[in-house]
Amino acid sequence: MTSPADRVLIERSLEIAAENGGDLTSAVYARLFRERAELEAMFVMDTDRGVRGEMLARVFAAILDLIGDGAYAQNWIRAEATTHEGYLVPRADFARFFEIVAETVRDACGADWDGAMEEAWSDLLLAVRVYVV
Ligand code: HEM
Repeated sequence: MTSPADRVLIERSLEIAAENGGDLTSAVYARLFRERAELEAMFVMDTDRGVRGEMLARVFAAILDLIGDGAYAQNWIRAEATTHEGYLVPRADFARFFEIVAETVRDACGADWDGAMEEAWSDLLLAVRVYVV
């Protein structure tokens, strides 16, 4: 359960990242493919980048749910982790995607990122790892 203080910190970081970085989609996938070049081949059919965009939008929605009222994301993330095994995405890679998103948000925040945001995000990432594994 995300504390109200952590919720504010994560929301603030997302606002700052959006103000500074605009659409974070290309930065997230550039970071993912820099780290794991072989994963890019999974998206060859995604010529209009619709799947990539939808996937990230759903990840952000899940993050907002996790730090908000927790209506669905915990179960949904578990289910998607299983679905992605069917796409041959290992659970560790699936969980890593959330970290890649967090690192992209951190970079987009630049000097506005602080230790409190770092801690709030690491608590969230820890929770996600527990749901996925
Ligand atoms: C490195 C990690 C990941 C990889 C390589 C990956 C890969 C993929 C691929 C290849 C598809 C298209 C599948 C198809 O239509 O045949 C897809 C779709 C999708 N992924 Fe991921 N995924 C990752 C992480 C995640 C995470 C963490 C979430 C959410 C928690 C997620 C949510 C989705 C959703 C909702 C779709 C359907 C999008 C759509 O086509 O409308 N993915 N993913």
